[in-house]
Amino acid sequence: MTKITVKANGPYLVVGAEIVDETGAPFPVEAGKPVALCRCGASQRKPFCDGTHVKIGFQAAQTAASFTE
Ligand code: FES
Repeated sequence: MTKITVKANGPYLVVGAEIVDETGAPFPVEAGKPVALCRCGASQRKPFCDGTHVKIGFQAAQTAASFTE
C-alpha cells in the first residue's frame, strides 16, 4: 500500500510508490524506503526534498483536519 504523509512545513513523505518522470522512467530510489518529495518548490534536487524548506522557512497551512470543501 502506498502511503503519503504531508510533513508539517516540509515535504511529502512517500512510502511504497514508484516515482517516475514524464516519460515513465523510474527515479533511482531504494525499494521500500521512504522518499521525501519537495512541497516548497525550492529544492535543487527536484522532485526530491533537499532540506531547503528549512532554510527558507517554508510554512504550509494544510492539515487533514482543515481540508474540507
Ligand atoms: S520541501 Fe524540502 S526542499 Fe522543498
